[in-house]
Amino acid sequence: MFDWNGSTYAIALLVAAASHTIVLQIYQRFNMLTAAKIKTAVTGVVYKKALNLANCSRRQFTTGEVVNLISADAQQLMDLAVNLNLLWSAPFQILLAVFFLWQDLGPSVLAGIAVLVLVIPLNAVVASRMKQLKTKVSLSRLENFLSGEELKLRDVQTEYLGGHAVGFTGASFRWDKTGRPALRDLNMKIPDGSLVAVVGQVGAGKSSLLSSILGEMEKVEGLIQRKGSVAYVSQQAWIQNATLQENILFGSEMNEKLYHAVLEACCLLPDIELLQDGDQTEIGERGVNLSGGQKQRVSLARAVYSGADIYLLDDPLSAVDVHVGRQLLDRVIGPTGLMNSKARQLRC
Ligand SMILES: Nc1ncnc2c1ncn2[C@@H]1O[C@H](COP(=O)(O)OP(=O)(O)OP(=O)(O)O)[C@@H](O)[C@H]1O
Ligand SMILES: [Mg+2]
Repeated sequence: MFDWNGSTYAIALLVAAASHTIVLQIYQRFNMLTAAKIKTAVTGVVYKKALNLANCSRRQFTTGEVVNLISADAQQLMDLAVNLNLLWSAPFQILLAVFFLWQDLGPSVLAGIAVLVLVIPLNAVVASRMKQLKTKVSLSRLENFLSGEELKLRDVQTEYLGGHAVGFTGASFRWDKTGRPALRDLNMKIPDGSLVAVVGQVGAGKSSLLSSILGEMEKVEGLIQRKGSVAYVSQQAWIQNATLQENILFGSEMNEKLYHAVLEACCLLPDIELLQDGDQTEIGERGVNLSGGQKQRVSLARAVYSGADIYLLDDPLSAVDVHVGRQLLDRVIGPTGLMNSKARQLRC
């Protein structure tokens, strides 16, 4: 017969406490992993959607709202996932406690249950109502965003392998589903390795032409073909909140020789000397500590460094003076420049 003495109970208690901790930790780990996966998935979906948003839906959602979807609403779903198991485990735990207490205390447990019955529903109703409301709002916001209209990626034939870099055949494009076409009946072939300048009045549709090649406009009719990778320098220089070097590399691997050649060609070396930490200087939000011309040349340098097959440059010389403009033409854009073997479309 086994002797149930005090030390056996003590060991049993220790084992129980230890296994409780271990099981709880494993549960918490799985729980957090699942919740983190849910949050990452939602963030990924929102990010992907933001890149494919059609022009009309882009106007509907501000950048702040999109960031909110990731920071607040994805977090809300993560919190929900963490607490989801409480839904079944909390009543289960209460039932177990009542069952064991009943065996020791008998009907006196009913007093405790009475208090529970009075307090818990009230608490639970208030808490779950708040949570429900928050989750519902988050879900409807996400649903609204994710069902926004998307660009049709098939509008531009990117797998084209023929004799020209970009080709339009009877193509018309519009910005809005309801609006009239901003570009009508385009017929144009841009050969490999050529430099094309697009000239026109303000608002004539020069930037729109580049957007149509990028696939950011809706194609109404006709055909547009594009061969190989594309680098785009927008009319308003786009700068990330990172170091100058990171802004140029943009995730590509560092190639010292090319990097130096690009800095030199884009006339950035004198600017880097003036900056406090050279090319490791943090360029603040939207490049607050760079001049307009510097921002434009950093954007251009990013495009050159990317080594794409087609370069679309929207007014790349608008913010630089005549001398720097001349140098950029000679060393980057023109027939003797770094881009000379690629198709370039320059819009003046
Ligand atoms: N993102 C947009 N959404 C809707 N309409 C647009 C958008 N961008 C341009 N447009 C419209 O397309 C037309 C052509 O504009 P676009 O920006 O292509 O002109 P542009 O020739 O580049 O002018 P600028 O010389 O001033 O840069 C304009 O009527 C403009 O209102
Ligand atoms: Mg423009």
